[in-house]
Amino acid sequence: MTETVHRYDCLILGSGAAGLSLALRLPAQSAVAVVSKRELSEGSTVYAQGGISAVLDANDSVQSHVQDTLKAGAGLCDPRVVRMVVEHGPRNIQWLLDQGVAFTRNAEYVSAGGYHLTREGGHTHRRIVHAADATGLAVATTLEAQVRDRPNINVHEQHIAVDLITSRHLGDQRAHRCLGAYILNLATGRVETYLARFVVLATGGASKVYLYTSNPDVSTGDGIAMAWRAGCRVANMEFMQFHPTCLYHPLARSYLITEALRGEGARLLLPDGERFMPRFDARAELAPRDIVARAIDHEMKRLGSDCVYLDISHRPADFIIEHFPTIHARCLELGIDITREPIPVVPASHYTCGGVIVDDQARTDLAGLYASGETAYTGLHGANRMASNSLLECLVYSELAAADITRLMTKSGELLEAPPWDESRVTEPDEEVVVTHNWDELRRFMWDYVGIVRTNKRLRRAKRRADLLHQEVIEYYSNFRVSNDLIELRNLLEVADLIIQSALRRRESRGLHYTSDFPDKDRSQRAPTILIPDGYRPRGRNE
Ligand code: FAD
Ligand code: SIN
Repeated sequence: MTETVHRYDCLILGSGAAGLSLALRLPAQSAVAVVSKRELSEGSTVYAQGGISAVLDANDSVQSHVQDTLKAGAGLCDPRVVRMVVEHGPRNIQWLLDQGVAFTRNAEYVSAGGYHLTREGGHTHRRIVHAADATGLAVATTLEAQVRDRPNINVHEQHIAVDLITSRHLGDQRAHRCLGAYILNLATGRVETYLARFVVLATGGASKVYLYTSNPDVSTGDGIAMAWRAGCRVANMEFMQFHPTCLYHPLARSYLITEALRGEGARLLLPDGERFMPRFDARAELAPRDIVARAIDHEMKRLGSDCVYLDISHRPADFIIEHFPTIHARCLELGIDITREPIPVVPASHYTCGGVIVDDQARTDLAGLYASGETAYTGLHGANRMASNSLLECLVYSELAAADITRLMTKSGELLEAPPWDESRVTEPDEEVVVTHNWDELRRFMWDYVGIVRTNKRLRRAKRRADLLHQEVIEYYSNFRVSNDLIELRNLLEVADLIIQSALRRRESRGLHYTSDFPDKDRSQRAPTILIPDGYRPRGRNE
């Protein structure tokens, strides 16, 4: 069979807020591919509820947003990056408005230009612009429509990137340049070669590594795993964020109940109706997520209860329905009327604070390779991301990456050839059960041993399990034809290993990483956890 080779100026892997906003910001004369392993809108972005943080109110300030972010990040944010991102916030919201995103308006918010601003944990001001409780849907559908309308952007849905192509494929011992990616076309089952002068990882986070998650199925850490295998450093993988309030219901395993509910007065209650958050933090329900999730975990374990409750029923019914129409309708479908009764909730894995290390232009360690959005580690979130700072980071870093790529595109640069994907030694898989079994086992032990509260003993146990599964899957991968599930499982195992390694290195409790063996913060460990892959080669000044 002849090999299929695609050639582009820029290849963007992923179609969430990071990928789509970047595609739209590239020059109209450049040839751009957006590759998405499901349909274009599927990813965390479309499910985002609360909104996007930015200093939009005349009574708010950059300094205040910076301070809140630094405080939530528990000493590990890069203050320079935080300031830069916060300063870029308002113009990125304006960019979304220019694209046609319809944020919720409220005439009473005169000092915020008539846009309603809500509050979430850690924020000392109302600064979250939103589209009711379905902000991600508004952003995703607007950007998708724009992308589909652009003649220079080719959309490849149902295509999953398997691995990056680097100069190692041309014989270099240590990779220094990214040349493209091998991508499995899920319709034909064939792996195709995509060559590009610039490649962007916008593949989202890795929360699917845990049994319970707020994330869609696509969040399998593919970009982080591909970059690591290609020779890029990753940072802060121990800081996996657990959202405190996901609906606890057998028919809604990954349905988030937005933090904005707490921003508008909802209280967390024990099964007997006691409000417990004031016992844990003076900010009560609006303490940063790590504190609220840990408090819930503690109370559930103390009482042996399956969930706690989130109650907003003391607010007027018409206010609740106006501000939270989607959650109201979804809960009602499941027999819960949130205007009259509390909502059963549990914490679930939600966000990957660590990722592929990038600089101020979203450039990774490999020349030609960028990362933006949840896949990237920029230094913004530190040990705990503050609510609604993620979509902001996606937009800002995609803006920066697009500017850098646009600048470099004008310089001459050739597309190098790459060897075709080698399938000569593989056969059809004989035991798919290995994949499904290992997938379930991984997510279960990550939840049990590498979850909200960790210990060294549990982490080491998890490491032994992960090593064994990794070995099995690598063997399977080498012998059998790749499939979507196998690709994702291989990546999840890679990411699980990075999380466990990072957690074992951090011998203190800080932000989202809490271990009973070292329950206190240690000032001497106030630095990101950086993992360096085999064959890593520092990037030259002019690369
Ligand atoms: P995603 O939107 O996850 O997109 C990743 C894309 O990559 C998808 O298109 C996926 O198909 C594709 N992909 C992945 N792997 C491959 C591969 N191998 N090959 C090809 N394509 C691939 N943040 C906020 O700031 N405010 C909020 O209100 C908010 N609410 C949230 C609510 C929920 C339920 C969730 C899950 C998250 C929420 N977050 C929120 C976090 C935020 O939504 C995400 O961090 C952000 O949307 C990530 O955007 P992204 O573009 O990086 O990735
Ligand atoms: C939420 O709406 O609670 C999620 C916000 C976020 O993850 O930033």
